Amino acid sequence: MSTPAHKLFSLEGKTILVTGASSELGQQIAISCSQRGARVVLTGRDMARLEQTRERMHAGDHLLVPADLTSAADRDALAQASPAIDGLVHCAGQQMLCPIHQLSEGLVTEMYNVNFLAPVMLTQLLFAAKRIAQQASIIFLLSTSAHIGTRGVGPYSAMKSAMLGIIRCLAIEQGKRKIHVNGISPSAVPTPMWGNPDDNVMLDAQRARHPLGLGTPEDVANGAIYLLSDASRLVTGTTLVMDGGAVI
Ligand SMILES: NC(=O)c1ccc[n+]([C@@H]2O[C@H](COP(=O)([O-])OP(=O)(O)OC[C@H]3O[C@@H](n4cnc5c(N)ncnc54)[C@H](OP(=O)(O)O)[C@@H]3O)[C@@H](O)[C@H]2O)c1
Repeated sequence: MSTPAHKLFSLEGKTILVTGASSELGQQIAISCSQRGARVVLTGRDMARLEQTRERMHAGDHLLVPADLTSAADRDALAQASPAIDGLVHCAGQQMLCPIHQLSEGLVTEMYNVNFLAPVMLTQLLFAAKRIAQQASIIFLLSTSAHIGTRGVGPYSAMKSAMLGIIRCLAIEQGKRKIHVNGISPSAVPTPMWGNPDDNVMLDAQRARHPLGLGTPEDVANGAIYLLSDASRLVTGTTLVMDGGAVI
């Protein structure tokens, strides 16, 4: 008999590591994972906000590990502190607005360190420490700017596009262990990354381009739940674009 749908979408018995769990999208993904029965390892730089995330989660044996993921020592400490995981959601990231003709080397390096180097090397360390279980699901938070040109976010867009290559290669390399690797590309989701949501000309412009409206952290978390659950076991090397129709 086939598995009932509610079990396929359950995370009961799974341990999920969520980076960026101290704010918005990562916070909601951690909360939603706990609601689906998962034990969650939460990481971010701000311990007080990680605690706030935990307060909003379903009770469980969750683990909080503060880390600055641009630090090699912190990444290593996180990999060592982590139990074996069935899911890994790379949500930590930063965006900066700057047209390419005004870029500095420092800004490009900053975008590279947080949006590319950190998730790639954390993944490598978790594999090296044998923390990623067979059949695990690995998710990288990308952005629609990985797929289309967007004014003012050149290095951010480039790093998110670069992750498409990592996703495809890692999916092939880890296929033998039935590990599946995917991206989620949200469009604009009003979070602190966008600044003040009221009287915000950038968000007003975004609303006008989204036939289905702007997304919420819950929408993105629902996509993550699918990709973390057994329901998506055949889905690998691809990216779920969650953009309310903005790209088409
Ligand atoms: N919101 C959107 O419209 C949108 C759209 C597309 C894609 N995304 C992607 O979704 C992800 C989350 O976005 P968000 O809107 O939730 O952003 P956010 O509210 O600004 O949260 C960013 C998270 O990343 C963590 N972080 C940043 N730098 C870090 C570092 N050096 N080390 C460890 N953690 C670090 C922050 O931790 P601390 O606060 O503890 O420092 C925070 O938890 C990002 O990858 C972003 O690119 C967002």
